[in-house]
Amino acid sequence: MRVPIIAANWKMNITPSQAVNFVKEFETLVRQVSNTEIVLCPSACAIESTKRALQNPAIKTGAQNIYFEEKGAFTGETSLEMIKDLGCEYVILGHSERRTLFAESNEMINKKVKKSIQQGLKPILCIGELLTERESGKTEAVVSSQLEGSLKDLDAASLKDLVIAYEPVWAIGTGVTASPEQAEDAHRFIREWLSGKFGSELAESTRIQYGGSVKPDNARELMNKPNIDGALVGGASLVPSSFAAIITHSTN
Ligand code: PGA
Repeated sequence: MRVPIIAANWKMNITPSQAVNFVKEFETLVRQVSNTEIVLCPSACAIESTKRALQNPAIKTGAQNIYFEEKGAFTGETSLEMIKDLGCEYVILGHSERRTLFAESNEMINKKVKKSIQQGLKPILCIGELLTERESGKTEAVVSSQLEGSLKDLDAASLKDLVIAYEPVWAIGTGVTASPEQAEDAHRFIREWLSGKFGSELAESTRIQYGGSVKPDNARELMNKPNIDGALVGGASLVPSSFAAIITHSTN
């Protein structure tokens, strides 16, 4: 059985002190939740205050990005060692905003995935197609080439903690969600791809989150689908009551 994983991607929102207030309110709202893994991914500078404010050890933290070099002259970057030192368990990699606004290639993402695994951090690897790609029937080709490139030279054993987030780019921050059927089709395809490449055991155990305008009122329907194992939530994770509602609606 795959334990669902619901993660908040706060992006460049929520300051360190706002994070403390968020955590106080949020923890009370999700204290009954036990069958879902919850992850908060603050900006790098708010990880420490988030972590310190958390009382419930079952709520995990993650970073939104890292650089693949260990240390050195890389102004403005954050290393895995730094993120680990703050107590993060997860790291989001290859988010579409990183791919489009910061020109991250599959090759760079592959280096980051490898480094994260080496250092014991669990990658949440984001993939997903643009609207034009979907409209021209290229969704599966795009998703498989992102998977191929980002997971190059890795094997099933090293990928046991991998989480994949399928996020159609046209649904991110737009208010337009993929229908549960569209999302399920893509998730099923991803699982089949994993099975073909790494074997059915890894494919069956890998959690695949859906991301793109997840809200309290569409979360349950999405997560009821057999291949959707959680969500990566942007906008609706910025308010404790709405992020908590996404979790409680999809788990009760
Ligand atoms: P959204 O963002 O929920 O605001 O669409 C999701 C994401 O970018 O991970």
